Amino acid sequence: MTERLDLSIENLSIAFDKGRKVAVSGVTLHVPAREALGLVGESGSGKSLTSRAALGLLPKTAKATGRIRLGEQSILELSSRQLQRVRGARIAMVFQDPMSALNPVVRVGDSISQVIRSHEPISKRDAYSRAVGLIDRVGIRDAKVRATSFPHEFSGGMRQRVMIAMALASKPQILVADEPTTALDVIVQKEILYLLDELRREEGMGMLLVSHDLAVVATMCSHIAVMYAGQIVEEGPTKDVLARSRMPYTIGLLASSRRDKSYSRLTSIPGAPPPLSESTTSCRFAPRCPLATDACRTAPVELLEVGPGHKVRCIHSEEASSLQNSDFRKLDQETAHE
Ligand SMILES: Nc1ncnc2c1ncn2[C@@H]1O[C@H](COP(=O)(O)OP(=O)(O)OP(=O)(O)O)[C@@H](O)[C@H]1O
Ligand SMILES: [Mg+2]
Repeated sequence: MTERLDLSIENLSIAFDKGRKVAVSGVTLHVPAREALGLVGESGSGKSLTSRAALGLLPKTAKATGRIRLGEQSILELSSRQLQRVRGARIAMVFQDPMSALNPVVRVGDSISQVIRSHEPISKRDAYSRAVGLIDRVGIRDAKVRATSFPHEFSGGMRQRVMIAMALASKPQILVADEPTTALDVIVQKEILYLLDELRREEGMGMLLVSHDLAVVATMCSHIAVMYAGQIVEEGPTKDVLARSRMPYTIGLLASSRRDKSYSRLTSIPGAPPPLSESTTSCRFAPRCPLATDACRTAPVELLEVGPGHKVRCIHSEEASSLQNSDFRKLDQETAHE
């Protein structure tokens, strides 16, 4: 069996506007070979930038520092030509909106076989029959016929399947999926997640699954990293993050993604993340946190280990585990009256 690669992101920062707008700040993440890591956080927390950086797909205006290693390769140091070779063959991405990644005027069988041929010396005919095999593999019936369809002839869920087939076409070792099911209805969402999970296991791929929904990543990933305003605020084995979270932000997120009776009234954590700025001098979640004290607002808060492999960025992590959903609501009411 070939050796599998892992993906390491080390102290990654991404800034815009000559460093005045820091969108990602000192992020360190590890996706081991064959394992799935879930990256969660609210809109704007920096999940997409972090995951796109892993493929060298950042906007031109972004300035990235730190290190991204894929096996022996250092992604941030590769030329665009080298990157193209790495992309697909070693790491591939599934986006939220498949339409933006599929060529609307090319039949899907041809699109997929083009990807295969760009990575391997293989005849057109063999590449095409492999493309049909992949279309079948991702659960699309009548693969031979559907291979001749154009992207717009598929439903949203089926298009996402085509996109996954395309990502698999070059046998990547790491799959990055950025909100792969957000645009789909709940039933189709489940089917696509199940498919991704099955393919990851069968192909032995590592996966970075990005979502704003903790419940989604919890079912799919052995480890979870929670992002808030450009930083990792909690990370660890899924069971610890879910059952023994020690970070108020994660606890709030958990509450908002649960649908049981006691949580049904809370749809999100009150307040909004801070605007992007130059530096981090304090806990970024403090303005929305029921436990915040002056110490949280004045000194930098480190990401510290609270259990084996479980890290938390909170100086009140001891008390955090006893936080109730109502504490967030109370805080909301207090701020509303100020
Ligand atoms: N090209 C860009 N120029 C300037 N700022 C950007 C650019 N791309 C992203 N940002 C900013 O960086 C921050 C993080 O963006 P990112 O897309 O990574 O968030 P996200 O966590 O993926 O959010 P969502 O859940 O909405 O997809 C946001 O505040 C965004 O406005
Ligand atoms: Mg995003």
